[in-house]
Amino acid sequence: MGHVVLQGKRILLIVGGGIAAYKALELIRRLRERGAAVRCVLTKGGGEFVTALSLGALSEDKVYGELFSLTDEAEMGHIRLSREADLVVVAPATADLLARMASGIADDLATTLLLATDKPVLIAPAMNVRMWEHAATRRNLARLEADGVTRIGPEVGPMACGEFGPGRMAEPADILAAIEARLTVAGSLTGMRALVTSGPTFEPIDPVRFIGNRSSGKQGHAIAAACARRGASVTLVSGPTHEPDPQGVTTIRVQTAQEMLAACEAALPADVAVCAAAVSDWRVSAPANQKLKKAKGQADPVLALVRNPDILATLAQRKKDRPRLVIGFAAETENLIAHASAKLESKGCDWIIANDVSPSTGTFGGEQNEVHLVRAGQGRSRPEIESWPRDSKAAIAERIAERIGDALGRQTAATSS
Ligand code: CTP
Repeated sequence: MGHVVLQGKRILLIVGGGIAAYKALELIRRLRERGAAVRCVLTKGGGEFVTALSLGALSEDKVYGELFSLTDEAEMGHIRLSREADLVVVAPATADLLARMASGIADDLATTLLLATDKPVLIAPAMNVRMWEHAATRRNLARLEADGVTRIGPEVGPMACGEFGPGRMAEPADILAAIEARLTVAGSLTGMRALVTSGPTFEPIDPVRFIGNRSSGKQGHAIAAACARRGASVTLVSGPTHEPDPQGVTTIRVQTAQEMLAACEAALPADVAVCAAAVSDWRVSAPANQKLKKAKGQADPVLALVRNPDILATLAQRKKDRPRLVIGFAAETENLIAHASAKLESKGCDWIIANDVSPSTGTFGGEQNEVHLVRAGQGRSRPEIESWPRDSKAAIAERIAERIGDALGRQTAATSS
């Protein structure tokens, strides 16, 4: 994909007030190198850290500051400014700016543009760690995410204020990658139907007890959201999780593996199925109708288990309505690639996303993931393996959605020519 993505693209860069504002200069330079046009808006706070002169010199364009009165005749021009961009980037996005964005306040040029724009918005937060962790900021971020704003960072590290923790603005190279990802989003899955499973399953023992696992549903939900952002119509079949239903996705909540399978089959046909759920391999063969009680003199209960249906294998081996692309996950702690390749074969799926879940990686329930994409080779050839650097589950979801778009797009092109 490389640099072509940015060629001729127009980025509106809002520079907020924070020590990280200096990184915006580097970001402009890199965007310009890749052929993007950059227009800068410098907030009053931003102006305390970098000058309009430097932004202007690097962007080779006029810099818009708060000196412009919102009521003069240029106002409409400013609104047009935000509409003319392909993407609006806020870097650094301070706690205060995020709060105003989240509440739809338009009390300066930057927030007015953000409220007036109909273009995607990417934020690169930067703030003190306590501000980042404050309930108000959490709430504002959740609000912005639900509004469709994408975020990159912040990173964990030592901060200018002397504290350590999350709050440092993402590096320009990472912001650049996020900009590219956001700009490639449009259309690549338009008209496609995607089915995604996520979360654990809960298998009842009696009306109050169950067998479950610690899957958070983060990765599966992020994949559903990323496919939806690329224009797919997505059905997410999720076991019990604390993740909110992703925006623009039809979410069906289930408890057990059998319910999950039924919901998946009901959601067919689909172009792609991604099985990210941690399905319980067994269920209790005869769950009790009443709560099991401890009664004196009675033997302790013994649970008899039976195998649950394998949803991934069932979908991959369907004769009718088999999705064109069936993707499974493999959680491995060793011999990752060999196990993943064997799984491709045994399940009959097309791709396996192999997760390294060794305890040292902190993948389970964590924010980050380290994966290898293993694709079945043609005929008897060996699987193709792509190893991705450790990244946030959101970034990995974007990359998976992108690969799905590429593969389905190629298939469609091949069958229609
Ligand atoms: N899967 C499924 N239904 C099941 C079990 C697993 O759909 N009943 C899917 C999961 O969603 C995942 C893949 O199969 O995509 C995982 O395969 P699995 O055989 O369960 O392997 P691991 O969990 O990696 O572990 P192991 O190989 O040790 O069994």
